[in-house]
Amino acid sequence: MAATEIARQAGEGARSVPLSGHVGFDSMPDQLVNKSVNHGFCFNILCVGETGLGKSTLMDTLFNTKFEGEPTQHNQPGVQLKSNTYELQESNVRLKLTVVNTVGFGDQINKEDSYKSIVEFIDTQFEAYLQEELKIRRTLHSYHDTRIHACLYFIAPTGHSLKSLDLVTMKKLDSKVNIIPIIAKSDAISKSELTKFKIKITSELVSNGVQIYQFPTDDETVAEINSTMNGHLPFAVVGSTEEVKIGNKMVKARQYPWGTVQARWEPVARTPVTTSSTAAASWRRWAFKDTDPDSKPFSLQETYEAKRNEFMGELQKKEEEMRQMFVQRVKEKEAELKEAEKELHEKFDRLKKLHQDEKKKLEDKRKSLDDELNAFKQRKTAAELLQSQAQQAGGSTTLKREKERKN
Ligand code: GTP
Ligand code: MG
Repeated sequence: MAATEIARQAGEGARSVPLSGHVGFDSMPDQLVNKSVNHGFCFNILCVGETGLGKSTLMDTLFNTKFEGEPTQHNQPGVQLKSNTYELQESNVRLKLTVVNTVGFGDQINKEDSYKSIVEFIDTQFEAYLQEELKIRRTLHSYHDTRIHACLYFIAPTGHSLKSLDLVTMKKLDSKVNIIPIIAKSDAISKSELTKFKIKITSELVSNGVQIYQFPTDDETVAEINSTMNGHLPFAVVGSTEEVKIGNKMVKARQYPWGTVQARWEPVARTPVTTSSTAAASWRRWAFKDTDPDSKPFSLQETYEAKRNEFMGELQKKEEEMRQMFVQRVKEKEAELKEAEKELHEKFDRLKKLHQDEKKKLEDKRKSLDDELNAFKQRKTAAELLQSQAQQAGGSTTLKREKERKN
């Protein structure tokens, strides 16, 4: 579109000004694409899974190469995060790929703390990026962003259910990374078992509140393919680095005495990755081919929704039950308190009456003592009077006798 045309289409309120010549901002998107191509893309994958589940093989299969990496021994004292960065090039597009492996995951007797070093690793990468962002002189364009774009979580093909280690780890990681659950070595389970296993895993993830990555469906150009991708989750994978001739084509497959199983994947490195920040979105193109042509993806999305609704329903029921129980408890407590209050009132009344009786008794006693006191006082006054009269009488007799003696 010509720049002059853009200027004419400017929104209301903006003044339209004609350009007298070509400025060049019409080729901006091309410049951005070129810049990304020149600098290359950066993509960081975290592979979490027990030792020997086929993590390295799958990475080799996906990227059509042989990354270094020795198998891990099962005697690791703890879980260690090992990060390797590779430069890959296809045509003129360069990809800086970092694969982080969890060495010794699931090998300890006490697996409780297995997730801790993974969480620590993820947080450290976020912290490093933040520090770079906070620098006054930022060099983000040349900074090697080590934040994890996607976490492939390898599930053992037991056909039963998830291990508690899987649930705990995924729960601890789901708020920090995009978790893409993967059923490793899925050639080990039959087709019908796989369907049931996927449903079981999905329902366990939902009922434990584990959030897995959902391919975005809000952009209508990718809505259809992405909802198909979501329907395939958790992806069943078969890894192999061996090339086998099937028909007249060389394909990656695993050969067994009874037949050949083709590796199931679509090479992610060959799909155009956009920018590092949206690298996770490139996974939307990651469709795992089913070797069986007439197998259709059963709708795990629907199962997920149904399970989620069931879970929410149960949650609501539990909430209602708890509310009822709470109301019942409050009522019981209220009755208890009322009873106690009544008893208290009765006790108070009894005490009050007792006090009144006691008071009355004391008053009566006081009255009788007062009466006694008064009577005593009266007697005392009478006695004093008598005494003084007697004294007076005694005095006049003495005078008379004296007079008589004198005479
Ligand atoms: P560590 O790095 O030691 O933890 O192992 P890992 O998870 O990287 O496993 P690796 O890729 O080394 O594979 C272990 C074994 O499993 C190898 O013998 C692989 O050939 C085999 N293997 C890998 N992928 C598959 C698969 O999809 N199906 C089957 N049946 N075997 C597989
Ligand atoms: Mg390995």
